[in-house]
Amino acid sequence: MLLDADHCQQKGLIDMPKTAIYPGSFDPVTNGHLDIIERGLKLFDKIIVAILTNPGKQSLFALEERMQMLEVCLKKFSNVEIGTFDGLTVDYAAQCNAQGILRGLRALSDFEYEFQMALMNRRLNREIQTVFLMTGMRWIYTSSSIIKEAAQFGGNIKGMVPPVVEKRIREKYARKS
Ligand code: PNS
Repeated sequence: MLLDADHCQQKGLIDMPKTAIYPGSFDPVTNGHLDIIERGLKLFDKIIVAILTNPGKQSLFALEERMQMLEVCLKKFSNVEIGTFDGLTVDYAAQCNAQGILRGLRALSDFEYEFQMALMNRRLNREIQTVFLMTGMRWIYTSSSIIKEAAQFGGNIKGMVPPVVEKRIREKYARKS
């Protein structure tokens, strides 16, 4: 179907502020996440970083700690908010009046899981579109899990996470050992 300008105007597709939620565990936030948020802001007027409160896996950081770190890292963006949710991502997106779900893709290995999740989300709510953005090359191999693993055994994680997160990870593992 060809969408002409009048049709888009009638449907409110033009000039409508666009909001996306960016869901995840953020245990903790990494530079890769921040890279996706910055890229997402080129497409969306507002991004709501949505922390899942009941991830299946045990988290290193409590929800409040994950929120605090995100607040520090995101305070420079006036159009980024932080929210928490449990249950379905699409339900939270609808609650936020968001048109999009933003997800980052790194390597090909992310694709199958992300593809399955995006298709299920579309089946659950056809009004909400999943938008994938490629992470910057610098962050292609980073994830919260691999960074935590490296830090746990004394590896240098400088430059992979914001300084506030690096400090909190170090403190966490120092207390555990
Ligand atoms: O950072 P993560 O752990 O890769 O994020 C995964 C997340 C939170 C996006 C995903 O687990 C999720 O959306 N969970 C909420 C339940 C849901 O809606 N699942 C997808 C459709 S069944």
